[in-house]
Amino acid sequence: MTKLLLRALAGETLPTPPIWMMRQAGRYLPEYRATRAQAGDFLSLCYNPDLAAEVTLQPIRRFGFDAAILFADILLVPQALGADLWFVTGEGPRLSAITSASDLGRLKPADAIHHRLAPVYETLRILTRELPRETALIGFAGAPWTVATYMIAGRGTPDQAPAHALKERDRATFTALIDRITDATIHYLSAQIEAGAEVVKLFDSWAGSLKGADFDDFAVAPARRIIATLKERHPGIPVIAFPREAGERYVGFARATGADCVALDNSVDADWAARHVQIDGCVQGNMDPRHMVTGGPALVAEAQRITRALRGGPHVFNLGHGITPDAHPDNVAAMIEAVRSA
Ligand code: CP3
Repeated sequence: MTKLLLRALAGETLPTPPIWMMRQAGRYLPEYRATRAQAGDFLSLCYNPDLAAEVTLQPIRRFGFDAAILFADILLVPQALGADLWFVTGEGPRLSAITSASDLGRLKPADAIHHRLAPVYETLRILTRELPRETALIGFAGAPWTVATYMIAGRGTPDQAPAHALKERDRATFTALIDRITDATIHYLSAQIEAGAEVVKLFDSWAGSLKGADFDDFAVAPARRIIATLKERHPGIPVIAFPREAGERYVGFARATGADCVALDNSVDADWAARHVQIDGCVQGNMDPRHMVTGGPALVAEAQRITRALRGGPHVFNLGHGITPDAHPDNVAAMIEAVRSA
């Protein structure tokens, strides 16, 4: 029998949606914290195939999600392109910043990433052997704009100002960087599919800060090129696109990019999405991750409201963004129960 996630992504309307959760392997789980301590730090965990596969499997064992997402990070691609990368505890990622043509010139070619990323492909191969037969395996990468915002600023930024500034000041360097990341992402996701990923997801966490023609040029166009090339090389591979905070630009995003499913953040209303986004195919989302902290009757009511609002078409139940470290695992179990009994 075909896996539930693959059926929804193929456009099937199901009585109960498949369920998984962004950042389902993470610090809210004591078993994750233990394995991360064993690895030493976050990046060592990402590059240790046995331990990365172990943390990918932990939420599947505990909750029986319908999909597992590869444990890795979107910033491994900049690192494989030659940027320095480290994580500052309590603050987030730091990278050597790309702010000029000469910085860009020091990056490696897009097809030189595989040596560094080989452990990630090995994690996927382990998972294809160890996952339960009904659980789908999702690979992922950051979308070019979101990855570029970190590479240009050298860190996470609230408003992506350094990336917008480079886009205005030195368009040629900015577009060359977007093109390099786009090519690298195609190589990376192709290799993930060859290693066993059955679905791939593109995370464009900062898509919402692109407006007008910039949204078309730097959120839509790179996603369209990545998806078209992947589907040429791997016919039938389903793709989920997550243009977070895209607002009105969620409308038509699947058609414009060729994505099989768009992931909704928690700022859009599920009823609105049913009418304007789900008409084009599968949608994923869009529960507010704060409910995983607060729990109670409000969690149950919201999980059921979303499930019912999107029941008329293909839907993958998920959060609108990643679960946070202060979430309680019991609330995750309650959410799953609420969705399956809606
Ligand atoms: O969803 C999953 O379970 C798969 C693994 C995954 C991680 N990061 C693990 C991770 C995925 C898909 C990501 C994507 C990612 N990484 C995004 C896009 C999605 C989003 O959240 O908007 C972004 C922007 C990043 C970059 C990144 N990685 C940041 C900004 C941070 C620090 C913030 C934080 O939550 O600590 C990370 C670290 C990170 N990536 C952690 C995990 C589990 C926490 C690391 C730890 O254990 O300390």
